[in-house]
Amino acid sequence: MIATLWDLLELTLRWLHVITGVAWIGASFYFIWLDNSLQDPPEWKAQQGVKGDLWAFHGGGIYEVAKYRSAPAQMPGHLHWFYWEAYSTWITGMALLMVLYYFQADTYLVAADGLVRQPWAAVATSLAYILSGVVVYELLLRSGISGRIPLLLGVALLLALVYSYLAHMLFSARAAYLHVGILIATIMVANVFIGIIPPQRAMVRALEAGREPDAAAMGRAKLRSTHNNYLTLPVLFCMVSNHYPVLYGHRFAWLLLVYIIFVAAAARQYFNLRHKGIHRPLILVTCAALYILLALGVAWDSRPALAAGAPRVSDAEALAVAAEHCAGCHSAQPSQPGFVAPPAGIVLESAADFHSYANRALVAVSSQYMPLGNLTGMETQERELLLNWLRQMSAGGAVSSND
Ligand code: HEC
Repeated sequence: MIATLWDLLELTLRWLHVITGVAWIGASFYFIWLDNSLQDPPEWKAQQGVKGDLWAFHGGGIYEVAKYRSAPAQMPGHLHWFYWEAYSTWITGMALLMVLYYFQADTYLVAADGLVRQPWAAVATSLAYILSGVVVYELLLRSGISGRIPLLLGVALLLALVYSYLAHMLFSARAAYLHVGILIATIMVANVFIGIIPPQRAMVRALEAGREPDAAAMGRAKLRSTHNNYLTLPVLFCMVSNHYPVLYGHRFAWLLLVYIIFVAAAARQYFNLRHKGIHRPLILVTCAALYILLALGVAWDSRPALAAGAPRVSDAEALAVAAEHCAGCHSAQPSQPGFVAPPAGIVLESAADFHSYANRALVAVSSQYMPLGNLTGMETQERELLLNWLRQMSAGGAVSSND
C-alpha cells in the first residue's frame, strides 16, 4: 500500500514537473523567437518609442506585438510577468529529486563503488554539488569574462568536464547525468530569480517614478537570459537521458555528456540565427553529424564481445545467479521490499525472459547499473558469468524484437 502510494507520488511529481517544464521552456522559446523576429516599426510607432514590432496569426486571430525601447509613455494597468513557470519547474524537480533519490538514496543515489557510501552523506554531497555550481557560475559572471566569448567557452568547457567527472565519482551513474542537469537547471532558475526579475522590477519602479532605468542592469539581465537560452537543450537532454544506461553507464559517460552538452548548445545557435533571418544550415548539419558520430561510436563500442576461450555458461548456472540477484525485483510479484511491480516492466525469471532483454541486460549489468545499487551484493565472478551468458545469447543472434 505505502509502496504503491510512493510510486504514484513519484508519477504525479514527474507529471507536474513535465507540465511546468513545458510551460517554462515554451515561454522561453516563444520570447527568444519574438525578440529575434522583431522588425523595424513604422515611423509613427517608432516615434512612440517602439523598438520593433511583428504580426502573428494564432488561435483564429491576428496579434500585433510591439517591444518598446524602454517604456511606453504611460505604463499599462496590467503587465504580465513570466517567472512562476521557472520556479514551479524547479520546485517540482527538487521534490522529485527528494522522493526518488534522497528518500531512496541507498538504492538510487549512492554508487556501490563511489566515493560517498552513506545515504545521508550522499544527500548532503548532492546539495553541496548543486549549490557550489551556482556559486561558481555567479563568480564567473562577476569576474567580467562573460564578454570575452572564446575565453568564456574555454572556462565553461573546463568547468563542465570537472563537474561531470565529479558527478560520476560521487553518485550512481544514473544520478550523475541527472545531477549535471539539475546543476545547469538550478543556474537557470537562479538567473531568473536573482538576475532577471529583480532588475526588471527595478526598471518598472524607475519608470513609474519618472527616473531613467539602469541600462547596465538590464544588459546584465539580458546576458543571463542569453545563457539560459543556450542551456535549455542540454538540460532537456540530461533529464530524458535518465533511462539510457547505454550512455550514462558507459565508462566514459562523463566525457560523452560534456560532448553532448556542447553540441546541443551549439545547435541552439542555428535557431537563434534563423529567427533573425540568417540561414546557416551548416551549423545544424554539423551538430547533427557530431551527435550521430557519437551514437555510432557508442553503438560500436557496446557490441557484445565474447572473449575467445570464455567458458561456456549453462542456463542453469546463469539462472541461479539471476534468481539471487535479479528476480527479487524483476519478477511478476517482486519480493524486494518497496517494489510492487517488475521495474521497467521487465521480468527476468527464465532463459526466455533473458532472451527478450539480452541487449539491455548486457548494458545494464556491464555498466554496473544492475543490480540496482548492488543491493544484492553481486560479486565480480557472478557478474562475469552472467555477462558471458548474455554475450553467448547475443552472439547466437536469437534476441527477440522485444529489447
Ligand atoms: C533492487 C531491485 C533491482 C534488482 C535486484 C535488479 N534490478 Fe534491474 N531494474 C530495477 C529498476 C528500479 C529498474 C528501472 C530503472 C530505470 O527506470 O532506470 C531496472 C531496470 C532494469 C533494466 C532496464 C534498463 C534500461 O535499459 O532502461 C534491465 C535490463 C535490468 N533492470 C536488468 C537487471 C538484471 C539483469 C538484474 C540482475 C543482475 C537486475 N536488473 C537486478 C531494479 C532492480
